[in-house]
Amino acid sequence: MTSRFENKTIIITGAGSGIGLAAAKQAIAEGAKVVAVDLSAERLDAAAAEIGPAYVPVAIDITAADAPDKILAAAGGTVDVLVNNAGIMDGFLPAAEVDDKTWDLILGVNLTAPFKLIRAVLPGMIEAGKGTIVNVSSEASLRPCSGVAYAVSKRGINALTQHVAALYRGKGIRCNAVVPGAVQTNVDGAFRSAYAPQVLGPLLQAGATAPAAPEELAAAILFLADDAAASNVNGVILPCDGGWSAV
Ligand SMILES: NC(=O)c1ccc[n+]([C@@H]2O[C@H](COP(=O)([O-])OP(=O)(O)OC[C@H]3O[C@@H](n4cnc5c(N)ncnc54)[C@H](O)[C@@H]3O)[C@@H](O)[C@H]2O)c1
Repeated sequence: MTSRFENKTIIITGAGSGIGLAAAKQAIAEGAKVVAVDLSAERLDAAAAEIGPAYVPVAIDITAADAPDKILAAAGGTVDVLVNNAGIMDGFLPAAEVDDKTWDLILGVNLTAPFKLIRAVLPGMIEAGKGTIVNVSSEASLRPCSGVAYAVSKRGINALTQHVAALYRGKGIRCNAVVPGAVQTNVDGAFRSAYAPQVLGPLLQAGATAPAAPEELAAAILFLADDAAASNVNGVILPCDGGWSAV
């Protein structure tokens, strides 16, 4: 066991399941205190009982107006790392079919909430002269393999990542994104369109690799979060997809 994250406070959203939970476990095993944010109090409680006091649960919808303040309060001062991981899929609804409610929900959870959390942690990081942000994007930010709302939200995350890296690199802040391909989690990957699979199905079959384990994504996230290993890595959109992005 190493202690890469000894005395570090790491906020991870969506830390009750899948990639976020795996990242929380690995970070805690390496010394971190993790502010574990999730919509599901049940998932958080189960994980807290298993992991122990370094996993600090915050049951909240990240789109709630008071979410950034409550999450920062739970961190209790310095935030060393923010991992914007919570995200939801959009039933693969294409542009002609997506309804306003789905569009607003997906953009709200996947893009606006991560932006607002970044905006909330930046002043403290600027004052400290250090801090790291890791955003969880998607293969859907690189190629058509989702619905339109999800694709736009994840391309937006990439733009947000590069904006923050470019504007705050002189302040000691790094901001990177991980791009998962398919991963074995609880994400709802059901099609809600009859048309979309006709077009996307062959594209997915041609390029996608077998689903990764969430721990593989957690390892990539924590590499980017590690100020020693990734000290000069900033503004990177890092595929962790078994080679899908190379096809
Ligand atoms: N699983 C995949 O194949 C895959 C592929 C590409 C990208 N991703 C991305 O990885 C990230 C993590 O997803 P996962 O696959 O681990 O999914 P998951 O469903 O297993 O975990 C996501 C967690 O986020 C929480 N969450 C959802 N909405 C929330 C909200 N409004 N406020 C707070 N918490 C909320 C959920 O309760 C859940 O516990 C997402 O951003 C997703 O888009 C996943």
